[in-house]
Amino acid sequence: MNEEQRKAGTLDVLSRRNEKEKDYSKYFEHVYQPPSLKEAKKRGKEEVAYNRDFQIDEKYRGMGEGRTFLIKTYGCQMNAHDTEVMAGIFTALGYTPTEDVNVADVILLNTCAIRENAENKVFGEIGNLKHIKQERPDCLIGVCGCMSQEESVVNKILKSYQNVDMIFGTHNIHRLPQILEEAYLSKAMVVEVWSKEGDVIENLPKVRAGHIKAWVNIMYGCDKFCTYCIVPFTRGKERSRRPQDIIDEVRDLARQGYQEITLLGQNVNSYGKDLNDIEYGLGDLLEDISKIDIPRVRFTTSHPWDFTDRMIEVIAEGGNIVPHIHLPVQSGNNDVLKIMGRKYSRESYLDLVRRIKAAIPDVALTTDIIVGYPNETEAQFVETLTLYEEVGFEHAYTYLYSQRDGTPAAKMKDNVPTEVKKERLQRLNRLVGEYSTRALAQYEGQTVKVLCEGASKKDDEVLAGYTEKNKLVNFRAPKEVIGKIVEVKIVEAKQFSLNGEFVSVCEPALVTP
Ligand code: 5AD
Ligand code: SF4
Repeated sequence: MNEEQRKAGTLDVLSRRNEKEKDYSKYFEHVYQPPSLKEAKKRGKEEVAYNRDFQIDEKYRGMGEGRTFLIKTYGCQMNAHDTEVMAGIFTALGYTPTEDVNVADVILLNTCAIRENAENKVFGEIGNLKHIKQERPDCLIGVCGCMSQEESVVNKILKSYQNVDMIFGTHNIHRLPQILEEAYLSKAMVVEVWSKEGDVIENLPKVRAGHIKAWVNIMYGCDKFCTYCIVPFTRGKERSRRPQDIIDEVRDLARQGYQEITLLGQNVNSYGKDLNDIEYGLGDLLEDISKIDIPRVRFTTSHPWDFTDRMIEVIAEGGNIVPHIHLPVQSGNNDVLKIMGRKYSRESYLDLVRRIKAAIPDVALTTDIIVGYPNETEAQFVETLTLYEEVGFEHAYTYLYSQRDGTPAAKMKDNVPTEVKKERLQRLNRLVGEYSTRALAQYEGQTVKVLCEGASKKDDEVLAGYTEKNKLVNFRAPKEVIGKIVEVKIVEAKQFSLNGEFVSVCEPALVTP
């Protein structure tokens, strides 16, 4: 399917007539295909095309003169990075950024669909923006990101949130100029959501959020289809960027003086599996990136299923790949893991952890856990607690299971009362807290390397930054050290952070170019 065909099926303008009726399709000026999770689930064999010729048409360039934009971002790093791309497009169109919703000429909500509460927050925010639209009808309000890929969300906005001017999906970001133009011209709701992913587009403009740390996409989409997860539907099939494009981007960031990059993908371990002409995986990419003169390299997120020995080997070599691995386990019980479709067992996960620890003795492991999966028993939950202790994670992000329409788990009957789920989550969080505190306590008296990011959130006079293992450190030092890696002696471990005394600025490590 080419861009024009996709567009013919899905770019539509909804006029605001007869809003109370449910069948919106007849009010679209063109053929309207709502986003479809069913369509999004299909995995075709078409080759991914790499578009390196992306350019913003000259005719759009002045569109933002004298106008401001504001993007509110929800959800994961992938979304944060998409926001940087959209900020790049806005800037190329002549818009300037603002933080103030009361003056912004375009307000975008870059949304997350992963859990119901994330979605509720967004609907609350769209509601809050109603008065802006009343006071300033010329202000454009847009909803993009993962929620826009869901048919139910699009229909709800069409029905109940007439203050929204544009809805566009995760595969349509590069078409922001066209979507904006349509919205200015039509005075009607513009909906452009492709259910099927598009090509990999290189050379999109970006305005990165900072000058010290940067996100670098290495792949898009996910083919794992864990039974609870909406991501494979909202982000499409796995598509890896070409190694050289990634390496060039990282080299460029290094030249610009960035100190840390995070390689991003929904499951970075799948990187390269779709590159049919070369044998090249995440291990190879990490090795190539470890040769680039950038002090710190992280990667996220890893699926335990395809974490290879080659990857362990490369991380164990040290260099700029930090010894911190985020390895979502989700549950410690085999039956739950099976229904989740995770394709590994408690035993194989523990074996992977054993191999990682053997090769990288000072590794910090963190994880994600879902509590209250449909029909989870007390005994199954306790196995999650015991696995947590066995691994000795340094931290975890813990979630109550949230039903996502369209996923296989949404069809499961559930016999666990919400109160029981909440009580389990509290127990797990207590354990996580104990282990996090213990992990921080062991730093007291040690000298650690900290990438100083700026003033601390609580005190302007205090600087803050993170260790290689992602521990937050607060310390006093001259402002000149911002953006540098410094040695700090830890004097006190708090519950969520460390306090230390500045020792010195580290000499840049020598990495072969
Ligand atoms: N309910 C609760 N948590 C979820 N996650 C993904 N989908 C759901 C869901 N439906 C969690 C997983 C994942 C993290 C990013 O979000 O733990 O690793
Ligand atoms: Fe990120 Fe997933 Fe949320 Fe989309 S649904 S923003 S991919 S966490």
